Amino acid sequence: MIEKSALQGKRILLGVTGSIAAYKAADLVRRLKDHGADVRVMMSHGGTQFITPLTMQTVSGHQVSLNFFDADEEAAMGHIKLARWAEWILIAPATADCLAKLAHGLADDLISTVCLASEAPLMVAPAMNNKMWSHQATQQNCQLLRQRGVEFIGPESGDQACGEQGEGRLIAVDNLLKHLLTKSQPGPLNGIKVVVTAGPTHEAIDPVRFIANRSSGKMGYALAQAAAEAGADVTLISGPVAIHPPSGVHCIQVESAQQMYEAVMQQISPSSVFIGCAAVADYRPAQAAQSKIKKTDKDDLSLQLQLNPDIITAVANAKQRPAMMVGFAAETDNLPYYAKQKLQQKRLDVIAANQVGEGLGFGQDNNALEIFWQNGHKSLTNAPKLEIARELITFITERYHAKDSI
Ligand code: CTP
Repeated sequence: MIEKSALQGKRILLGVTGSIAAYKAADLVRRLKDHGADVRVMMSHGGTQFITPLTMQTVSGHQVSLNFFDADEEAAMGHIKLARWAEWILIAPATADCLAKLAHGLADDLISTVCLASEAPLMVAPAMNNKMWSHQATQQNCQLLRQRGVEFIGPESGDQACGEQGEGRLIAVDNLLKHLLTKSQPGPLNGIKVVVTAGPTHEAIDPVRFIANRSSGKMGYALAQAAAEAGADVTLISGPVAIHPPSGVHCIQVESAQQMYEAVMQQISPSSVFIGCAAVADYRPAQAAQSKIKKTDKDDLSLQLQLNPDIITAVANAKQRPAMMVGFAAETDNLPYYAKQKLQQKRLDVIAANQVGEGLGFGQDNNALEIFWQNGHKSLTNAPKLEIARELITFITERYHAKDSI
């Protein structure tokens, strides 16, 4: 037994589905047990074709759950009890079929039913042929699952059992274990809710047109990832973007500023951190036309615009005002002046400002930030957005805990 492992006593429910990689599940269980984890195994019918339940029973030290129609098994530890018992559910290997079932909420076998019945965080380690993995159907299922906060571990690339090469191999047991160990270390934002807004908003002109801006969502998504890495319970409220939400983050998709406002107001709480990174449209068409607006002979067309709610200001003034309020400011001119003005006017704790314009800010992979707070200023120099996000989250964490100790 490994002394003082972060996995000591962790109740892990392992689902094994029908992939050739299922034989590695026995090694995984043995290694988890070495770390002191309490592991129970449930297997799909396919899983039992690749490794026997007896093997899994021997390594885990517990009867394996196979079927929720079996009266004996239900009497031992039924699917609802299993669902409640689990602190974590890990499916390794997870086949394309298993991911599809989970994505669509099917409950036609033990594993899918337990996942549906459990509130435990769900992790999946996919394993399948690379064509099956890259198929649109699988990728769309994965996207749905990621949006719901399911964490993906792997897959890895390399030689496959089918003789092909590519992405789809089960992550190596060593790497999977490292991931679980990191995840079980208490991070500096452990147990703290972080709500992040990201991306642009779309304001409908008519059923086919909208007003938007150039925000790609990359910075907000990077912040959500960095906060999740720090152990936070992250809710990402995103306008329409073309990127996937990070693993383990709960994502709420919205279109308009009004929808973003409503989603945000439902999510904030007094102990949370709010990061307003979305490029919210300040105005929307006063009246979105019900039918497509037709071209006429006139040379010009006017759109009447109406002010949208200022989300971050509403959050700062809410009864549920979060413990830490962080805003963003994208500026083309006079950055320090406008950033400090927004810090005051929007009643923020911190504002992160970036210069936008040709080749800067929106849509780019890199960013540089000027951070202002009441009595201070700090620069984060040009780096990939995820790196900048990690630095900003470290800074926010320090201030959050410093506030706590005042
Ligand atoms: N913001 C918001 N709701 C809005 C507009 C902005 O929550 N309707 C938030 C942004 O998410 C950001 C901060 O306010 O955290 C500053 O956004 P920015 O667009 O730079 O500021 P505005 O107040 O819109 O000012 P201006 O467009 O005149 O620069």
